[in-house]
Amino acid sequence: MAAKPTHSMHKNIDEVHTLLRNIKKPQILAASVWATSCLNTKKLFSDPSLQTSTALQELLSESLEQLKNVNPEYADILFKRFWEQKTVDELIYGIYRGRWSKRNFFNVQKKAIYQLTEILVQQENFCLQQEQQSLLALGIPHKSYKNLVGRSKIVQQLVTVLQPSNHQRVIGIDGMGGIGKTALAIEVTEQCLQTGIFDIVIWINAFRNDNRNAEISLSFESVLDAIGNQLGKASVFTMPLIEKKNLIQTLLTQKNALIVLDNLETAAEYQNIIIRKLHPLLGNSKLLCTSRHRFDDFEVSIFNVNLTGLPSDSAIAFLRQEGEEKGIGRIKNAPVDALREIAVSTGGSPLAMKLVSGQLLRLPLEVILDTLKHIPSLNTKMNENEYLRFYKHIFQTSVKLLSTNSESVLIAMSHFPPGEGKGGTFSMIQATVEPLKIRRNELTNAINELWQLSLLEIDRASTLRDVRYYLHVLTQYMVHADMLHLLK
Ligand SMILES: Nc1ncnc2c1ncn2[C@@H]1O[C@H](COP(=O)(O)OP(=O)(O)O)[C@@H](O)[C@H]1O
Ligand SMILES: [Mg+2]
Repeated sequence: MAAKPTHSMHKNIDEVHTLLRNIKKPQILAASVWATSCLNTKKLFSDPSLQTSTALQELLSESLEQLKNVNPEYADILFKRFWEQKTVDELIYGIYRGRWSKRNFFNVQKKAIYQLTEILVQQENFCLQQEQQSLLALGIPHKSYKNLVGRSKIVQQLVTVLQPSNHQRVIGIDGMGGIGKTALAIEVTEQCLQTGIFDIVIWINAFRNDNRNAEISLSFESVLDAIGNQLGKASVFTMPLIEKKNLIQTLLTQKNALIVLDNLETAAEYQNIIIRKLHPLLGNSKLLCTSRHRFDDFEVSIFNVNLTGLPSDSAIAFLRQEGEEKGIGRIKNAPVDALREIAVSTGGSPLAMKLVSGQLLRLPLEVILDTLKHIPSLNTKMNENEYLRFYKHIFQTSVKLLSTNSESVLIAMSHFPPGEGKGGTFSMIQATVEPLKIRRNELTNAINELWQLSLLEIDRASTLRDVRYYLHVLTQYMVHADMLHLLK
């Protein structure tokens, strides 16, 4: 038998007793404290669309089944008393004749209700735990990679910096588009969650939709809105700035949160200003930022990581993983030296290597290596323009391999917000390409082709029913620039 009931347990027992007494009275059930709040029963309902009373009846019956396994006698008493609606007299003078005095029977019944309540509370705790876990994972995009190749050292280093004992509060990962900043941030975040360094992670993509569904760019104030909103304070949106700042500072002092600001180069306000304003509000929380632009640690101490391409051996391992996943025979059979050549000419950039791998589905290795020789290899000394030109070259080779339908779908996709966790579902894309008379099976083929060529990503956490597709931020940029003839 479990420990003595605590005060709150007593309260629960009384409420469960009331529920049992009214189990055949739907109106009273639906209006019970329990149904609305006390044990958050709605979370326990297997089918949320059921009427509250029906769902409660189901829930109680399921718990009774569980009680049967633990204590069949108690389950039997409760079943006869409440489900079959026998009176106490019928039970003690009839069915259980002579077994208990009236007083003893009430005691036994109370113990039975106590055990049933315990089962309900256990289920409740389990649901809360699950909810807590999904809360922890609030907004964190799913991995866009199968295994993160060649970054274990830097992942470890960043996890160490994020430990509470480390004085650094801000980490900045900068590097070219497609070099693996977001992937690194996701991996670090997941490891922090697994080891319990933070209570919660708040992931904010500078390319984001606000709750009114209009695309907005990030500013200091909208970062505060996003933090407040994700921490359950939707009222933050309408507060004056000074109140917002106070609220966020209080929340971030109470919570030990990791705030991730991804794609900060796309923010409306200059990234260093956002960080400088946010820094004094961080409390016990820490900040991890990614951007194509370098972070300036002039006023705020920032642990800066300049991410560069994968070193040759890791790049080869990456290419093999990519070949495996996309079923690209030419990579599987390619000699190490040829892969090394790809690694060198792409500067080990994961996105560039993904595009080149896709091209290997259609073009011989020699042709691809030959086209790569016509552009300077990606290197760390390149400025923004040089590196965009480098990408343009690889991107356009891939686009030339597309069918007309696939090209139209790619352009349609560029109207959705880009990046992990964004994009659109199949039906959303279908609706967008409908005016182009692209049929369902043609759309399926186009999506498949775009995926194989790495011009489109599939959200790894998609369910069978709801698959999400998105473009990489840099791919979207390339499509838009191409449409506007900026890339000529
Ligand atoms: N080390 C890695 N191992 C495996 N895949 C990677 C790695 N780094 C990046 N990727 C993949 O390459 C693509 C580009 O990386 P991403 O993190 O989006 O770059 P960035 O954020 O710098 O633009 C993504 O699909 C990502 O999953
Ligand atoms: Mg990114």
